[in-house]
Amino acid sequence: MEIRKFRDDEVEEIVELTCAHMTNGDAIADEVRKSAAEGNLYAYKVIEEGETIGFISFKEGIEFTVPHPDIEEEIGKLYGDKRVFYGDAVWVSPKARNKGIGTKLLHIMYDGLVEAGADYLMNEYWVYPGGKSTILPLSNVFGEPLYHKKIQGFYADLDKYGMSCPICGKKCKCSAEIIIYSMKGEE
Ligand SMILES: CC(C)(COP(=O)(O)OP(=O)(O)OC[C@H]1O[C@@H](n2cnc3c(N)ncnc32)[C@H](O)[C@@H]1OP(=O)(O)O)[C@@H](O)C(=O)NCCC(=O)NCCS
Repeated sequence: MEIRKFRDDEVEEIVELTCAHMTNGDAIADEVRKSAAEGNLYAYKVIEEGETIGFISFKEGIEFTVPHPDIEEEIGKLYGDKRVFYGDAVWVSPKARNKGIGTKLLHIMYDGLVEAGADYLMNEYWVYPGGKSTILPLSNVFGEPLYHKKIQGFYADLDKYGMSCPICGKKCKCSAEIIIYSMKGEE
């Protein structure tokens, strides 16, 4: 198994795989292409026997899957005077899950954020109806949060932005937990 940085010429593969394993839709595809063109896509992939079986990406800025200007403004006021990055996508292909690859990717993202000079990391954790989250149990990799907000119905407008939920389809009932960590040891 090899884990390495994504290359610029692999953007279309990111687009295809992110839509297949995370959130689908033209808006996501356009966003990935735009960030890559602007040099604001930090991404790593896991390769096994020539196949990409895992992926993680992060970007600089304060943005969510679905726009939430009120929360973006609140976070901007609290942390926006320093460099805030956000976790963008993480997935492991179904056959390779529960072997520690997701946790390894989060550690790689942590190191990548330090290398990029991040002051804060903002993560948006997707929580399915009923409360299950695949990612929250792994999130202790990032330490103690500085900020933590749970928002019901966070993805209600997903379909308006040309996306669909892997669990609910067009009418998404999932909630989100927005968590901010200091990358510089601030408590
Ligand atoms: C979230 C996701 C990336 C996790 O990837 P993963 O490779 O399965 O992650 P890990 O193997 O590190 O951890 C998953 C579980 O396996 C356990 N595990 C880790 N290593 C293990 C091992 N060697 N043997 C058995 N179990 C193991 C972990 O403790 C964890 O259990 P928990 O959820 O009860 O805490 C994956 O489920 C996924 O792609 N989901 C779909 C996309 C998604 O939801 N992305 C996040 C959106 S916010």
